[in-house]
Amino acid sequence: MRIEKVLEEKIDELADSKVKEAMRYSLIAPGKRVRPNLLYEVVKGYGLLESVADEFACAIEMIHTYSLIHDDLPAMDNDDLRRGRLTCHKQFDEATAILAGDGLLTYAFDVASSSTADPSIVVKCIQVLAQCAGSNGMVLGQDLDMNESNTSDWDYVRKVHKYKTGCLLSAPLMMGALLAGKNDETVRQWHEIGISLGLAFQIQDDILDVELSSEEFGKSNSDEKNDKKTSVSLLGLEQSKELMISEYEKVKQSISEMHDFNGEKLISFIESIEKRRK
Ligand code: IPE
Ligand code: IPE
Ligand code: MG
Ligand code: MG
Ligand code: MG
Repeated sequence: MRIEKVLEEKIDELADSKVKEAMRYSLIAPGKRVRPNLLYEVVKGYGLLESVADEFACAIEMIHTYSLIHDDLPAMDNDDLRRGRLTCHKQFDEATAILAGDGLLTYAFDVASSSTADPSIVVKCIQVLAQCAGSNGMVLGQDLDMNESNTSDWDYVRKVHKYKTGCLLSAPLMMGALLAGKNDETVRQWHEIGISLGLAFQIQDDILDVELSSEEFGKSNSDEKNDKKTSVSLLGLEQSKELMISEYEKVKQSISEMHDFNGEKLISFIESIEKRRK
């Protein structure tokens, strides 16, 4: 896969250190690479070469991996298994895992800023990355997720999904449109699609958390242990599956309606995500 080579190259450029080893350990582990591939499919759907998106594909996967390393820490979900391996803090130690997350988040912006695309587009993509990842985006979602214990309100949990998962899925879609020179309204439409995709993707993650063993899932299935409020715990398995399917349908429909965009490959990529069992 193209993204694997880009990630290897970028991580190798760092000076050797313990934190670099921990960053590499989590980044190079077998993730599904959903976010970089969403970006590649959007630029291709607009008729551009994948290579225009390499730096941003790498940056979004680094930011996502940092979010997973911190999500697994004892202060958060306290998990032992990730991407089929020990979590970063179990393989190394907590301080190193915190620093590996910090290192990946920061390096993501270094890599993004090295893009040779039009400078005004690069700045806009960096802004999207920062906004989707930060305290109006994924970080807000993780904050809401950690403080949800008193709610049994599905609207609250929907909001958690929107921020913790939707924002980092919106970012690659929006950056793809920006790299293709699309206007603000088009970027806003991709943002909406990403939020719906995030809802479907997180409902699916919560379904798989109860349906799969941690060996099959490649990560600890800890929602019940952590008393997480999810679609499964609030609405039940059947309604969750219906909601997930209708949200994926909505995403595919919206993609097919995007102006001047050939959505065939992106839609089949989304269908492969829909069928995932890990
Ligand atoms: C896991 O994301 C976190 C969620 C938002 C559910 P992925 O399912 O994309 O994890 P990797 O990248 O394949 O490990
Ligand atoms: C995490 O949701 C989303 C982020 C890491 C931002 P989960 O806590 O459900 O993700 P997993 O199941 O640990 O991958
Ligand atoms: Mg979590
Ligand atoms: Mg977790
Ligand atoms: Mg989960």
